[in-house]
Amino acid sequence: MTSGTTVVLLAAGKGTRMKSERPKVLHELCGRSMLGWVIEATLGLEPDRIIVVIGHGAAEVEAAARAEVSGVDVEFVVQEPQLGTGHALKVAAPAIGDAERVVVTYGDMPLLSAESLASLVEAQKNGAGGAVSILTAVVDQPFGYGRIVRGEDQTFERIVEQKDAAPHERLIDEINLGVYCFARETLDDDLARLRDDNAQGEFYITDLAGIAAGDGRRVTPVVLDDASEAQGVNDLAQLADVRWQVQMRILEQHMANGVRIVDPATTFVDHGVEIGGDTEILPCTVLRGGVRIGSGCEVGPFTHLRTGAVLEDGAQVGNFTEMKNSRLGAGSKAKHLSYLGDTVVGARANIGAGTIFANYDGKAKHPSVVGDRAFIGSGTIIVAPNEIPAEATTGAGAVLTRSAKMGEGETWVGLPARRLDPPR
Ligand code: UD1
Ligand code: CA
Repeated sequence: MTSGTTVVLLAAGKGTRMKSERPKVLHELCGRSMLGWVIEATLGLEPDRIIVVIGHGAAEVEAAARAEVSGVDVEFVVQEPQLGTGHALKVAAPAIGDAERVVVTYGDMPLLSAESLASLVEAQKNGAGGAVSILTAVVDQPFGYGRIVRGEDQTFERIVEQKDAAPHERLIDEINLGVYCFARETLDDDLARLRDDNAQGEFYITDLAGIAAGDGRRVTPVVLDDASEAQGVNDLAQLADVRWQVQMRILEQHMANGVRIVDPATTFVDHGVEIGGDTEILPCTVLRGGVRIGSGCEVGPFTHLRTGAVLEDGAQVGNFTEMKNSRLGAGSKAKHLSYLGDTVVGARANIGAGTIFANYDGKAKHPSVVGDRAFIGSGTIIVAPNEIPAEATTGAGAVLTRSAKMGEGETWVGLPARRLDPPR
């Protein structure tokens, strides 16, 4: 079964206002590129195909998008030169092939929801042959956007760009969000009718809606209740604003699953973090993509968990502790001022304040292992690779060099640490 829907994402533009070498759609929001977020929203339509129109930084955008979106067939079409949004769709058209409808959106609108896209498609399906639907919103500050021009009886007539609008048209407060659903059957003919005789000398995708309405085909504006969904990102201030909204959506999802997030305003959780129920996340905590936290854990305040950090049920990490590619077993604790890199800690171990796993010798990273119920004294430095067996103990300030070979249950103290005889 196919949905009959093909998605085209326009992402060829330079994004000049970002003042960045990085292609605009690759700027990140909570551990995922803008393009990644947009692609995910379109997946709700179960599209037969997704075509991304690229241009500036084409190779980079393609590689990043492929890496980020797995299991979906994403195709890329290069638009060079970039002669406008209508031209971008024209360049993509031969790749569209068979479809019933084509949904077009822009790569710089990461807040757009799958639900809004679904209602757009519904509206297009309800029109007869050649129907078009477009997402619009009524806003307080329409400046800069294309405006929806309606006739006396409120039916859609056309979209006029800010730069082409007559003074009375600039008063219109219904804006074009840049998200469209076109009938496939009429698209090629309509694209051939686009002209660039406008203020920007560009081929506007927006004119396709006016062309359809002029032919007497149905054009349905779907008015969004929540216009903030359509916030585009054109500069770094807008990126930060949108990041906050993406972050709240992620945190709300975790809270709905029973995770206590004490202070959302100071909690940074990337896309793709797993957290079990009844875990408490205290303020000023940063959890990067790929982190996995079990149930009944305590994280923070001021904790940084990086990629590959895993907490088993009931584990606790606290103030100024950083973990990277490390596992803390069930009920184990690393509550103060510690670094765990490439370290596997068993169950119910205690990692004392200020413990450092020195995993990097300047050339390579090395692993360490800590057994169940081990007790690492405050300020211990463990030079990796190393192993602290089950129920072993280190004294405060011990430095375990690589040559240390601790036995199970032994206590080691000193600098460099040596075996303490007799055992405590
Ligand atoms: C566009 C709409 C405007 C709408 C606004 C919503 C047109 C003509 N106007 O204006 O009605 O209110 O979005 O944000 O479409 N792009 C290409 N190739 C090109 C040009 C653009 O791929 O040749 C891509 C850009 O990368 C970007 C998107 O299309 O992702 C939108 O282009 P942009 O120039 O930002 O359009 P706006 O002026 O914002
Ligand atoms: Ca834009």
